[in-house]
Amino acid sequence: MKNKIMIDIEGLHHRYSNNVLSLDDVDLHINKGEFIAIIGGNGSGKSTLVRHMNALLMPAEGTVSVCGMDTHDLANTWKIRQKVGMVFQDPITQFVGATLQEDIAFGPENLACPRSDIRQRVDRILEEMDLVTYCDSSPLELSGGQMQKAAIAGVLAMDPECIVLDEVTSMLDAGSRSRVLQVVKRLHRQGITIVHVTHRLDEIFHADRVVVMDNAMIVFDGNPADVFGDVTLDHMALDVPPIMELAGRLKEAGLLQGDICPFSIHALGDEICRSM
Ligand SMILES: Nc1ncnc2c1ncn2[C@@H]1O[C@H](COP(=O)(O)OP(=O)(O)O)[C@@H](O)[C@H]1O
Ligand SMILES: [Mg+2]
Repeated sequence: MKNKIMIDIEGLHHRYSNNVLSLDDVDLHINKGEFIAIIGGNGSGKSTLVRHMNALLMPAEGTVSVCGMDTHDLANTWKIRQKVGMVFQDPITQFVGATLQEDIAFGPENLACPRSDIRQRVDRILEEMDLVTYCDSSPLELSGGQMQKAAIAGVLAMDPECIVLDEVTSMLDAGSRSRVLQVVKRLHRQGITIVHVTHRLDEIFHADRVVVMDNAMIVFDGNPADVFGDVTLDHMALDVPPIMELAGRLKEAGLLQGDICPFSIHALGDEICRSM
């Protein structure tokens, strides 16, 4: 059973240098192949939590292990970072290559992969991410959505088992957001474990499981459809999309049945018709 676990977090506490407790006794177990969404208000500890998942931060107390490797052990750091790739809200800080193909090649070059393998890997990833046209462009010249895809491409070049996305869609327009999410869903179908931090509630429905953070703690861990029925979450300033709020009110009034979380007007229309 142990080998099914991708990331195993037990009793994790984290304090930054200002002594603020940013994670307060967090337990979280992520299985290989899962798609987990993490939501919560600003400052609730989401980024701190995910930065522990590839040893960017070390536990003050508790343990984090990735594929059975303890992040405390510095000898594991490089292997852990290869297993778990991280993409941030602002990808500009992540690019290292002058051109997109150089940028994607950077990771495998550091892994000392043979030149011809690197070439093949870069070409395959450019193709998969629909970025071939931009192979000789600077990553900094790309649009917001393409930049995020390029950042994901750089991580993919390391052949990771898990990708952590920390608010990668928050600066994107609706079209780019949807394209990036399509890419993420495809990677998940290919077997990559996904940890998707977002403040957009409609994005949690792409996940198998949602974790809600509040005040340095996990306050909910379960099915995305159950988030809205959980009274402990009512006080949190979660930005509920109007369509879900309407569905919730209709359910309260007895006009809709079951676990209903439509995130499109068409889905809500279908549910209303079914309930009539
Ligand atoms: N580098 C840092 N130094 C000190 N405090 C920090 C630092 N980064 C985050 N914090 C604090 O830790 C808490 C959790 O922050 P963070 O994990 O970034 O939350 P979120 O990603 O949910 O917005 C907040 O109180 C924040 O102010
Ligand atoms: Mg954050």
